[in-house]
Amino acid sequence: MQWGLESRLAQIIKPDTNRTVMLAIDHGYFQGPTTGLEEPGKTVEALLPYCDALSPTKGILQYCIDPRTAPPIILRVSGGNSMARREELDDEILTCTAEEAVRLNAVGVSVSIYVGTEHQRQTIQNLARMADEAHKYGLVVLGISAVGTSLDELRQPGKEEELARYLALASRIAAEHGADISKTYYVPGHFDKVVGGCPVPIVLAGGKKVPEREALQFTSNAIRDGASGVDMGRNIFQSEAPAAMIQAVRSIVHEGKSPDEAYALYEELGG
Ligand code: 5RP
Repeated sequence: MQWGLESRLAQIIKPDTNRTVMLAIDHGYFQGPTTGLEEPGKTVEALLPYCDALSPTKGILQYCIDPRTAPPIILRVSGGNSMARREELDDEILTCTAEEAVRLNAVGVSVSIYVGTEHQRQTIQNLARMADEAHKYGLVVLGISAVGTSLDELRQPGKEEELARYLALASRIAAEHGADISKTYYVPGHFDKVVGGCPVPIVLAGGKKVPEREALQFTSNAIRDGASGVDMGRNIFQSEAPAAMIQAVRSIVHEGKSPDEAYALYEELGG
């Protein structure tokens, strides 16, 4: 691995624990003013001390994040879709060049792939092309298995194996097309197969907001099953106590705390 890429990767995945807590705040690029991110600068300010890296779009980065105090940035560089046309969510393009990401002092870039959809080829090509460009600058590439609304359909009881097969397929495809880190969702009982089939570190997206205890439980399960950390959004910034929640997540990821211990910490810090 070239020096620059390895150095940037180490800014995201901390060498002392080999794990990461990334905070995802890129939802607005297709969801608009997402609950909890109406004023991203305010939301994020209290959370920055506890995240190893931040995942914004270039707009939020430039308008809401102080360049003097920003943590390592993984810039979201795919988009062009919106919730106004849900049926076209998979019709993504690249929205930023690798060169611009370097100008913004990003350590990495993130691109969604929509495996199994009408535009899968276009989105996989987005990732492959961005990986080629980003690696010229030693930028880390994060491939995101985007599942959109179909995640809810696949999350029905009894469909866990099917969901795991799908996420394993998408995560592997992300790695095969140049991702250095693959971001996916937790699937109970079968997550080890998703991790086992992917040659690059896996980080966990949280998905829709669930009760804090539940989110800490699946985070802990995912780490136990081999995830290298989280790139979590709504289950942190939509929490009743976001700063307490991110610290509770950190305690699992970096300190190996149990879900019960992490929840106790959440309650203690969150009042
Ligand atoms: C949107 C994304 C989000 O960053 C991802 O979903 C993580 O956020 P959350 O934990 O809220 O699911 O990739 O496409």
